[in-house]
Amino acid sequence: MQVTDLPPQASLPDWLRAVIKPPAAASRRRRVTVEAVDGVNVRVDGDTLLNFAGNDYLGLAGDRALRDAATAGIERWGVGGAASHLLSGHTRAHEAAEAHAAAWLGFERALLFSSGYLANLAAVTALAGRGATLYADRLNHACLNDAARLSGARLRRYQHGDLDTLEQWLAADTSPQKWVLTDAVFSMDGDIARLDRLLDLCRRHDAMLLVDDAHGFGVLGDGRGSLHEPAFARHVFASGGADPRVILMVTLGKAAGAAGALLLGAGPVIEAVVQRGRSYIYTTALPPLLAEAAVAALGRLADAECADRRHRLLAKASEVRQSLGRAGLACGLAGAAAEHASGSPALPATPIVPVIVGPDAGAVEAMAALRRAGLWVPAIRPPTVPAGTARLRVSLSAGHSEQDTDRLITALKELFCNG
Ligand SMILES: Cc1ncc(COP(=O)(O)O)c(C=O)c1O
Repeated sequence: MQVTDLPPQASLPDWLRAVIKPPAAASRRRRVTVEAVDGVNVRVDGDTLLNFAGNDYLGLAGDRALRDAATAGIERWGVGGAASHLLSGHTRAHEAAEAHAAAWLGFERALLFSSGYLANLAAVTALAGRGATLYADRLNHACLNDAARLSGARLRRYQHGDLDTLEQWLAADTSPQKWVLTDAVFSMDGDIARLDRLLDLCRRHDAMLLVDDAHGFGVLGDGRGSLHEPAFARHVFASGGADPRVILMVTLGKAAGAAGALLLGAGPVIEAVVQRGRSYIYTTALPPLLAEAAVAALGRLADAECADRRHRLLAKASEVRQSLGRAGLACGLAGAAAEHASGSPALPATPIVPVIVGPDAGAVEAMAALRRAGLWVPAIRPPTVPAGTARLRVSLSAGHSEQDTDRLITALKELFCNG
């Protein structure tokens, strides 16, 4: 029965009607149904659109090696996850993905999850108790904030990138358990956290550092993610393996083209997440076919062909940012990376390029205009971004040709520079 078919006597309570009242049109979220995908082209409502709305940065989501691994995985394991890890859901395929990731990324141990959201929840709630204080960048992803709230620990959010304030707070904090939580690449701005300084602060103030590298993994640091960027690697991996103060979360559903996520850290720390992480314990395991695909994805990320894609992607990202910047468009916080670069190896421009519009309605109108021009660039509004900074979030992929990015740049200039 459709909701609209409900007989009058079955109508919803008035109080619930008030609770579920839809937001105003300019802030309402809408799902778009994709009918078909062909690389960076998608069909929506019968129209073919050039997709700048995904996170398939290297074009691996449709990759032959991943498809073959998933198909072989279905033949071997079937479709479902069948059980949680601590019952009978943990297979050799999960073990292989974890061992491969830990060795490649330089951590003692890795734990595979069905999503990054669950991985962050498990890490923070298992490791940060009520007596802990969590310090978090204001622009961190929602799931780190949710994890912090769920943990019951004290949460203090510092202004984006304001490490001087963070240092003062850490220095004044006498509580025994301190954590710093940060995105590595900020998902709506595309800038990179100063992971070297953050780790230094954690060392000096006896804090732990949780790094969410959902958008850097596969793209930065030779594919191994932000921590492996030369500007950071010499700090994080000074003694060979990762500093045990660091816990890393990487997602497999973005640049890796697969699904799920990995949490990496020192062996005893990861074991504590197995023992106490409720979003690890009380959920069905990622289907083993996807663990097989994850192993294939890790292999692809390390190969020469992906290195070439990465190289082209980062060059393209830098060109697009520069071109839009020259046209006077506000592309957000790219300057943070440039500032950081002084005195240490430079950081690349990431494939996330925001075009800040301001009012919610303006961003929604711009998205609609681009859609009419055959381009899919999502409008991102509060509360996902701070009030007054609604924006278009351009997400580039190695699959975009020069012609594709030229089309995007021309359309954005027409929209914002000819008015
Ligand atoms: C920065 C960041 N962290 C975590 C997540 C959650 O990862 P997942 O989609 O695998 O749940 C996302 C996006 O979805 C993200 O952008």
